[in-house]
Amino acid sequence: MRVLGIETTCDETAAAVVRLRPDGTGEILADEVMSQIAAHAAYGGVVPEIAARAHVEIIDSLVARALRRAKVVARDLDGVAAAAGPGLIGGVLVGLMTGKGIALAAGKPFSAVNHLEAHALVARLSQRLAFPYLLLLASGGHTQILAVEDVGLYERLGATMDDAIGEAFDKIAKMLGLPQPGGPAVEARAREGDPNRFALPRPLIGRPSADFSLSGLKTATRQAALSIAPLRPRDVADLCASFQAAVVDVIEDRMRIGLRLFRQRVGAAQAIVISGGVAANGEIRDAMARFCAQAGVPLVAPPPALCTDNGAMIAWAGIERLRRGFIDDLAAPARPRWPLDASAERSLNGKA
Ligand code: KG4
Ligand code: ZN
Repeated sequence: MRVLGIETTCDETAAAVVRLRPDGTGEILADEVMSQIAAHAAYGGVVPEIAARAHVEIIDSLVARALRRAKVVARDLDGVAAAAGPGLIGGVLVGLMTGKGIALAAGKPFSAVNHLEAHALVARLSQRLAFPYLLLLASGGHTQILAVEDVGLYERLGATMDDAIGEAFDKIAKMLGLPQPGGPAVEARAREGDPNRFALPRPLIGRPSADFSLSGLKTATRQAALSIAPLRPRDVADLCASFQAAVVDVIEDRMRIGLRLFRQRVGAAQAIVISGGVAANGEIRDAMARFCAQAGVPLVAPPPALCTDNGAMIAWAGIERLRRGFIDDLAAPARPRWPLDASAERSLNGKA
């Protein structure tokens, strides 16, 4: 089974071809990603209109390149998958329409993939991993703790009430004059900094829910910076290290609650999985490894290239869905907001 996957929900245009191996994992035959970071750099954030135009300009040639690298043509495929949301609607429409067009022209089944579901399932592409597992999904747009019980069966145990973790890293970087995306920049500076120099808050630590709040930490970091301005490189490094240490503590505490809720509601976890761009962070990965060792649950952290937005995860989610017979209509809509957990759709924390 070979499926083409297309991702255009944010500022990455991506197309990939993934094959289902006999052992149930995936083989990536091609994985093309074009980042638009340069196009948005002058604005300090992703500009939806610029993103949609950039996706339109590149998508056809990117898909063609992915097919060429995978040494297949469209009629060799067993299905076409495209992210149908949540995300910036202009970009989502570009990828979704492209995917539908290819599926229609080649007569292949189509899968309208939830971008969050792709982040949630990608761990099963790179290794054998059984359900159910506890997932920390942390990126620039989303921060959620989920119980992944099966394909299509997710329960949200916690979510951010304000900023996503990656978004907080990005805003701290911007404030300190570091480049975007902020996560890798802050992590690099933090390596030379003192994590104990600034006593920053750990919001919601000790609370019985698994929710996050990052805005107070962000504000406290800004105030710490203002109180010692002008900043020398040493100060920037110390601020980055102190901020990152607070985030690590918060994640560890929230995951402890998440695992407790998981055990109450679902049972034993086969693994704890971290995914999303923030999962590329070395300190966060190390903290999760320590936490999992203590909890006696294996940690699964997909390779960083599969944690950030990519086409292979969309193709893989397509494989997971299509092989279970979940085929979507070509009328499937683009959805700017699309929570994974049906009950979450009604809650206040519906932020994707
Ligand atoms: O999953 P992703 O590629 O895109 C979406 O937001 O969907 O995640 C990008 C986010 C950005 O906010 C970026 O700053 C953050 O992930 N990120 C990191 C690191 N690498 C990327 N955050 C912390 N540490 C990192 N090393
Ligand atoms: Zn993402």
